[in-house]
Amino acid sequence: KKTDSQMLIIFGASGDLTARKLIPALFNLYIAEQLPDNFVVLGASRSNLSDEEFRGKVVYDSTYLKEKIKELDKKQVEDFANKLFYEDLGDDYASDYEGLSKRIETLNDSHDTEHNYMFYLSTPPSIVETVAKNLSEYNLNDESKGFKRLIVEKPFGYNLETAKNLNNGLQQYFKEPQIYRIDHYLGKETVQNLLVTRFSNSIFEPLWNRNYIHHVEITNAESVGVEKRGGYYDKSGALRDMFQNHLLQIVSLVVMEPPIGDQPEEIRNEKVKALKSLRVMRDEQTLFNNTIRAQYVSSEIDGEKVKGYREEDGVDPNSTTETYAAIKFFVDNWRWHGVPFYVRTAKRMPTKVTEVIIHFKTPHHQIFQDSGVNSKDNKLIIRIQPDEGILVKFGVKVPGQGFKVERANLDFYYSSLAQTYVMEAYERLLLDAMQGDATLYARADEVEAAWEFVDPILDYWKNGKDVRMYGYAAGVWGPENADELIDDLGFWRNPGK
Ligand code: BG6
Repeated sequence: KKTDSQMLIIFGASGDLTARKLIPALFNLYIAEQLPDNFVVLGASRSNLSDEEFRGKVVYDSTYLKEKIKELDKKQVEDFANKLFYEDLGDDYASDYEGLSKRIETLNDSHDTEHNYMFYLSTPPSIVETVAKNLSEYNLNDESKGFKRLIVEKPFGYNLETAKNLNNGLQQYFKEPQIYRIDHYLGKETVQNLLVTRFSNSIFEPLWNRNYIHHVEITNAESVGVEKRGGYYDKSGALRDMFQNHLLQIVSLVVMEPPIGDQPEEIRNEKVKALKSLRVMRDEQTLFNNTIRAQYVSSEIDGEKVKGYREEDGVDPNSTTETYAAIKFFVDNWRWHGVPFYVRTAKRMPTKVTEVIIHFKTPHHQIFQDSGVNSKDNKLIIRIQPDEGILVKFGVKVPGQGFKVERANLDFYYSSLAQTYVMEAYERLLLDAMQGDATLYARADEVEAAWEFVDPILDYWKNGKDVRMYGYAAGVWGPENADELIDDLGFWRNPGK
């Protein structure tokens, strides 16, 4: 598909995301010859940088591009770097829009970007609306000459109320189809593949309901702690940082009804319906029984001392922000009635892994003897990352006399698709937005529906009586008490390293 000439203006360009994700994604797109011929990046931020300094920071001296740059000839790297420019925005992101709009105009003229502008807002949520307002004051939302799109990074609001205000605020200046709310999990190939697994295989979809599925388990684990983002994270926590967005996006794809086609709005409509059908937990007893939070405490991993969360830079020593969240919930609709969902996300786990596990019911009548513990149910394991793939667990006969049953696996790994280049999430999403395809971006009502579910949990964790906060040693699978949530099933599936 052809991508129109355009300019990408990044707000928050001196921040971590730009160097770590955005520029490397654009760099890969450049190497893959996916960028339009006329393409310019204008970084805007509060730091005072020249074009050259910006290029140095995000390209030449970037740790994220170091290895890649080595493989290329100088000319290519230079050609890419020369597409990048920088504009200082003053201390508060609010001052110099006149300067900015003039700079955009000049670059547009010199690089023929046809007045097509995409604004990427990688700024704190409190500033997003101000930026949109300022852009509109300089007519930078006006599409009469070229498209104007706004990509908004997470966190999208801080809770339901702020998300609603943000949506309303943005919609004063930009129309909904111009607004792209990014959730990088939707850019992951394996997350998108959830739709294909379900809706293009007659061996899965007929079983995808309460008649055959016993429960659904989703684990998102990271081995890192909060790294250098303590300041941000302490105001956020696992529920806001991962669950409200990335994990509920995965949930919506597992839960949704078949869309009538693959058009963006059809898929998004079904996702919103799915999110709206999550049973919101309101009373304290339900919240007490179905939610668990915890923080990692200082400990040793492989002989090395690891800081506890409260000792991390930027974190309040008395912080009650969770680095582990496990939530059990139900979905109130025809398909899922009575099927529990168990979803957890955490930092400082033994490994980095994200997987969705569909646990099927055991056959109503058991004829054969089972050979081992927990081997009766069929499982479909969708491995989102790493080792992307799909695993089906089913019973086979143990060779020899009698009919003993043992578990066997059918594996598919994406890596076995030789020659296929799998795009990184940010590459895919940036390219989609550049081409005006919003399928993998969240709509206003979708984000609000997700907050609707999360808000009471946040509120309970903040203000509820007798709310528990567990500790767990860095490098273990969270607090032992989290197994209580799993009811009679006993334990979570802890994937190996
Ligand atoms: C980000 C969170 O959105 O996702 C981070 O803010 C987290 O805290 C990251 O580390 C995880 O993304 P991925 O793609 O590495 O699973």
